[in-house]
Amino acid sequence: MKGYGPATFGELNADEYDALHDPGTTEACVDLIAELAADGEVLELAIGTGRIALPLAARGVRVSGFDASPEMLKILASKHGGDDIQTWVADMSDFELERQFDVAFLVFNTLYNLTTQDAQAACFQRVASHLRPGGRFLVEAFMPLRERFENNQAVRTKHVSFDSVWLEAVQHDPVAQTLDYQRIRITPDGTTLKPLPMRYAWPAELDLMARLAGLQPVAHWGGWQKQPLTASSDMYVIVYEKPADA
Ligand SMILES: C[S@@+](CC[C@H](N)C(=O)[O-])C[C@H]1O[C@@H](n2cnc3c(N)ncnc32)[C@H](O)[C@@H]1O
Repeated sequence: MKGYGPATFGELNADEYDALHDPGTTEACVDLIAELAADGEVLELAIGTGRIALPLAARGVRVSGFDASPEMLKILASKHGGDDIQTWVADMSDFELERQFDVAFLVFNTLYNLTTQDAQAACFQRVASHLRPGGRFLVEAFMPLRERFENNQAVRTKHVSFDSVWLEAVQHDPVAQTLDYQRIRITPDGTTLKPLPMRYAWPAELDLMARLAGLQPVAHWGGWQKQPLTASSDMYVIVYEKPADA
């Protein structure tokens, strides 16, 4: 999507991210990542405003992270405990932190914010080089194509009230595996547009990108409670491991 770069999400959404982006699974996500982390060092890719990192740190997990958006990181730093979390401004597809970790994670569909296969594959490569031998990488995203499209497009009504309507328009390119979203809010004060381009990937493609980066899949779940990943799953949580002898 022309005009949209790695920092655009934060520029458009940081001020109302916490109010409008609650997937309702934060506690379960924190539970599973804390279990995976044990007493190791943890890296969150695209850490955002600390939705996951802050409660992890409050449980004693040693977590740090990076994000492409200085605006998102500023909000994280302003929160209770935010100062104790080391953060960097960096791009998921091209980062070098000169450190290694025991666990890395990328949740809330954020792998899809990288809108080409090359960028997603590069992300797996960068993660692999930041993991210690035996280290693990957890990725969570929605299963592609839950939505119904007509002629590769859809418009959905997200919210209607007395003085506002929120719509979501999306165009699908099944060749590039992209979903170009435009979130539209109409109020008496005017209309706001929040674009969000994404590239989805099926679990099998993630597994291949991971294998090319030297990581092996060790768990495929259909949710944060470690449900099996099946044809009716609407999300996946996949864990990869860097071989202990790597
Ligand atoms: C849906 S939010 C997720 C934030 C946080 N991980 C959470 O679960 O609440 C997506 C985040 O990805 C960041 N982001 C988008 N593209 C990025 C990129 N190429 N590299 C690093 N961060 C990126 C955005 O700034 C935003 O903070």
